[in-house]
Amino acid sequence: MPDSGVIDPDIKKARTLPSRYYTNEEVFSEIVGGFADCWHFAAHESQLGKHNVLPLEHMESLVGEPMLLAHDNAVRCLSNVCTHRGMLVATEACNASTLRCGYHGRTFGLDGCFRNMPEFDEVEDFPSPSDNLAAFALKRWKGLLFAGTKPNRFEDCLEELESRIGWMPIESFQHDPSRHRSYDIDANWALYVDNYLEGFHIPYVHGDLHEELDYDSYRTELFEGGVLQIGIARSNESCFELPDSSPDHGQRIAAYYYWLYPGVMLNFYPWGLSVNIITPLSVDRTRIVYHGFVWDSSKLGMGAGGDLDKVEGEDQGIVEATQRGVAAGVYDRGRYSPTKETGVHHFHRILAS
Ligand code: FES
Ligand SMILES: [Fe+2]
Repeated sequence: MPDSGVIDPDIKKARTLPSRYYTNEEVFSEIVGGFADCWHFAAHESQLGKHNVLPLEHMESLVGEPMLLAHDNAVRCLSNVCTHRGMLVATEACNASTLRCGYHGRTFGLDGCFRNMPEFDEVEDFPSPSDNLAAFALKRWKGLLFAGTKPNRFEDCLEELESRIGWMPIESFQHDPSRHRSYDIDANWALYVDNYLEGFHIPYVHGDLHEELDYDSYRTELFEGGVLQIGIARSNESCFELPDSSPDHGQRIAAYYYWLYPGVMLNFYPWGLSVNIITPLSVDRTRIVYHGFVWDSSKLGMGAGGDLDKVEGEDQGIVEATQRGVAAGVYDRGRYSPTKETGVHHFHRILAS
């Protein structure tokens, strides 16, 4: 069971997460049950450009609620469950002026309000407010939309993003469907996050990426509810043109890698943003979905964010092999590098509490 004492706050004394966190069904269910308290990445507004109704399939695995985004005068996050007999209202992205259930024709406005229903004239006390689609919390930051069922504080994360990268015109980045990926891997979701949270493995696992990044300058910063890793470009490689207002002005930054608990990864490169959504499917199976949003297409294919498919394949091989290792009888837990694994330690402390 999760236990806040399990990870020593002093990384020099601490031992890593016990293997039951990656292998035990009960621990898994308890942790994933807590995802209802978190904000999750829903979409970037540019995904609502061509379609104004967007089902959010990943939210069903994350918080147990099928949701959709509907855009008319405002963007709303609504339940995707018809209030008649529970059919999903939208099964794919579409452009529509109303939401019409495909099962028996019940219709809702894009605000979720019940509009009409065939063959219901004689029904008493109908419609009532419970016939409207439920609405969920939705937060917008610079075109990025986050949703949740009963989410907690998010201000620390947004303040961190605002102060660091608030200068980027993120709301004008454009969704590029050709960059969409979905992978199901045989590993616990937290092992995938562990691997993401350190650059320690880059020289061993990612030969090409290692050529782009200055390993010794790679930095990790911790904040409430998340971790930022900063990749510094080698002298001849692609980097951001940072304005005076950036706290990193004057540095050769190749990538800002943000992770927000539990499974949101926002990877900013000079070409734009790659979002990874990490969704647990079961204790040893995880879905990783990529969405790409382009800022400057002339920089695609360059630098640390140049060949994400290759880096992803390398990471997945490692993470799946690690799942087999942590399930072994002889392994329970290890130790942390105080210089290279502060992000992993921070994550484990959040998980164990
Ligand atoms: S389930 Fe939607 S109209 Fe019947
Ligand atoms: Fe990696």
